[in-house]
Amino acid sequence: MGHLRQRRILVAIAGGIAAYKGAELVRLLKKQGAEVRVILSRGAREFITPLTMQALSGEPVHTELLDETAEAGMGHIALARWADLLVIAPATADVIARLAHGRADDLMTTVALATAAPVAVAPAMNQQMWANAATQENLTLLTQRNIQVIGPDEGEQACGDVGPGRLLEPSQILEALAGRFSSRQLDNKRVVITAGPTVEAIDPVRFLSNHSSGKMGFALARACAEAGADVTLISGPVHLSPPDRVKLVAVRSALEMHAEALAAAEGADLFIGAAAVADYRVASPATDKIKKDDRGELSLSLVENPDIIAAVSGLANRPALVVGFAAETSDLLAHARAKLAKKGLDMIIANDVSDPDTGFGSDHNAVHLIRAVSEQHLPLASKQVIAEQIVATLAKELAASSAAGAAQ
Ligand code: PMT
Repeated sequence: MGHLRQRRILVAIAGGIAAYKGAELVRLLKKQGAEVRVILSRGAREFITPLTMQALSGEPVHTELLDETAEAGMGHIALARWADLLVIAPATADVIARLAHGRADDLMTTVALATAAPVAVAPAMNQQMWANAATQENLTLLTQRNIQVIGPDEGEQACGDVGPGRLLEPSQILEALAGRFSSRQLDNKRVVITAGPTVEAIDPVRFLSNHSSGKMGFALARACAEAGADVTLISGPVHLSPPDRVKLVAVRSALEMHAEALAAAEGADLFIGAAAVADYRVASPATDKIKKDDRGELSLSLVENPDIIAAVSGLANRPALVVGFAAETSDLLAHARAKLAKKGLDMIIANDVSDPDTGFGSDHNAVHLIRAVSEQHLPLASKQVIAEQIVATLAKELAASSAAGAAQ
């Protein structure tokens, strides 16, 4: 269940006798290496204390929507952005009804509305409440909105009734959550991703580079690997560990990235260029450290680097999908559309790097997926959530292009 490692899971516990099982779920998630934060509703606090959940999660517990101290630290919007997944367990009939109707009358329901992360609910209620047409219609609405419904179980209930409505065991909920992060959408596909900055030597101790942290490219590599792909990640120097089951090729300069990318991309199914490649390199890097002299200035002669993604797109045995990123500080969409055409890409993903919330080094992003014929906006979310949304879209396009190829 390595899929949960380093995932940011927001566990919201609603008020019901099964709330105590939420504690076990948090413990199991932590054991899997997930980062966990907890929301406790007012009702849940009748069954389980914030102190218990704080001890288990190792984080302050969130209880109120309108709480000055929380809003100054991690308020409801920050929590909503932080999460890679929101799971409400147990979800009472009342919470399910309020979610279905888009209510935002407490912290839990407000975060559920405000997050771009996937949402899952694990219902727990009396069997008659479960069977009630109102509850069933509310659940249908949630399912139609891609909210995952996990359970419930059947059996003896705390009230003495027997039937469906028991919260699933925490281990079963854990398994369902891990399954969310391990789709088989890219089974048997080979994916090549570039990430991070390139570093262009000036002399043995100095270089030209940029602020890319590699987070976006590494998040994409993780999402592709978890969707079943065979992933090669070609990265400039970053401070990140490669995701599980990803082959990391470490490079420094654009020329090195160019050589590795062309070799790996030949015959691949998907190429994603998330690296911030230096457009220019120093024409003749000095072999010795450049010394200061009396002129008070230094000129460097730069030559253009090869365009890696344009070269991949031009390969005879080109990947079925070649996807670039456009990092812009103005006229985001216009510049991105021009790069889509100029570089011969199937899609370009435009992000505004002048915004500290979405640019280099941030844990979040907001992007536009631009194709020749259509555009789609993915609003602000963690880079991992954005990566999963991008990968889900690309997997569908790959499947459609394979089906079209087979029909010819
Ligand atoms: O790494 P992070 O801190 O998480 O930040 C993520 C990011 C902002 C770096 C990422 O989301 C992003 O936008 N990556 C592309 C950055 C970039 O160089 O954009 P560009 O608009 O200059 O280039 C357009 C495309 O051409 C990119 O796919 C780029 O990889 C590619 N390119 C550019 C120059 C070149 N010589 N070869 C290339 O392949």
